[in-house]
Amino acid sequence: MEKFVIEGGKKLSGEIRVSGSKNATLPVLAATLLTDSVCEIRNVPKLRDTMTMCKLLRSLGKTVEISPTKIKISGSANNHVADYKLVSTMRGSFCVLGPLLAKLGKAKVSMPGGCIIGVRPVDLHMKGISALGVKSGFEGGYVLAQASRLKGAQMYLGGTFGSSVLATANVMMAAALAHGETVIESAACEPEIEELGDFLSAMGAKIDGHGTPRIVINGVRKLNGVNYKMGSDRIEAGTFLLMAAATKGDIVVKDANYNHMLALIDKLNSIGVEVNKVGSHDLRIKSRKKLRPANIVTHPHPGFPTDLQAQYMALMAITPGVSLITDRVFPDRFMHIAELNRMGAQIRRDSGSAIVEGVKQLFGAPVMASDLRASAALVIAGLAAKGKTEIHRIYHLDRGYENLDEKLLQIGAKVSREKE
Ligand code: UD1
Repeated sequence: MEKFVIEGGKKLSGEIRVSGSKNATLPVLAATLLTDSVCEIRNVPKLRDTMTMCKLLRSLGKTVEISPTKIKISGSANNHVADYKLVSTMRGSFCVLGPLLAKLGKAKVSMPGGCIIGVRPVDLHMKGISALGVKSGFEGGYVLAQASRLKGAQMYLGGTFGSSVLATANVMMAAALAHGETVIESAACEPEIEELGDFLSAMGAKIDGHGTPRIVINGVRKLNGVNYKMGSDRIEAGTFLLMAAATKGDIVVKDANYNHMLALIDKLNSIGVEVNKVGSHDLRIKSRKKLRPANIVTHPHPGFPTDLQAQYMALMAITPGVSLITDRVFPDRFMHIAELNRMGAQIRRDSGSAIVEGVKQLFGAPVMASDLRASAALVIAGLAAKGKTEIHRIYHLDRGYENLDEKLLQIGAKVSREKE
């Protein structure tokens, strides 16, 4: 196992580049199961999660060749069983369910199970595929699903906590090869869904409205191969902005999509951080010495993303004054509070919210990463803190941030990756 050692208190400056989007890449890789032709995908971030998806595709019959610039996927899906060992390590793997049903007419996919950030049910996935005529059940920790030919249908996919990104993705991919028209009402509007829609369109799918709450898909008989470049990761870009804000830095974030990050940028502007577009692909962020605290409530896109809640909390922890942070998407996603408090933060949890009393300074300490975004929050805290922070279990970070230590070195951070 490895750890990050961060010597805090360095002001970040210079340029940092955003990688391809992890959460967009996972369903796009799954969508390649829908065709027997060759797909070439560029700008795929080299992460544990994307490599897990490649392993899963291989286990389902595809040939996957990984080179430094692209991933080439060929061959045909010939196995309908997505094994527990691969699906349990990453919830994103559950989005092979829709493509397997569409291509093979049956699927046996391990339940992703509980997770450190909350219960994470799959009822919306099941509701969506059942509307398409799939018969399904649960057995031995697996979802078993079957249908001779999927039939398009109108469905409402909203849930207690709003729309679901991966349930929307599963239904879109299944409906792409279904007979007739599918209308998904209350679909997820996240940029990752928009990108999946673009990818499916490039494969020859008839799809409209992706990126809005109403997606209309007219099934086709066959999809073709594509050559596609993934867009950039809005959560990684947002994490960089929050790192700069927390260290009173001045950086340019290259390959960031401004339009995907409006909720965060609006919040940063309101607390005293300047974020400006540089050309069409880059963002410059300049933080003032004194910031104001501000509350956030996470919501599905275009609201403030739950995947930046922990990192924003790290910034509020060192912003004097009180802020209230409420997670409406994953109300239990607060594992980072205890670790931030070990560094001197003053944060209390009150059901689905955290009350943050900003302090002047955090102090380096040994801390434990509990999940992907919580680990990023600890990196932000470590960069801003006085003294040395050791972050253990950084395999969580490696699931979602490509070469983070190397990228941070380029903007003046003092960080090293060491063996435990
Ligand atoms: C995706 C992202 C994850 C992000 C989340 C919310 C990927 C690989 N992961 O996860 O990083 O935090 O979106 O933006 O893209 N829910 C149900 N029933 C369901 C499915 C979900 O009630 O069948 C609930 C969840 O518990 C949660 C909310 O809906 O409260 C949103 O979850 P969802 O959008 O499904 O998250 P994922 O797609 O799993």
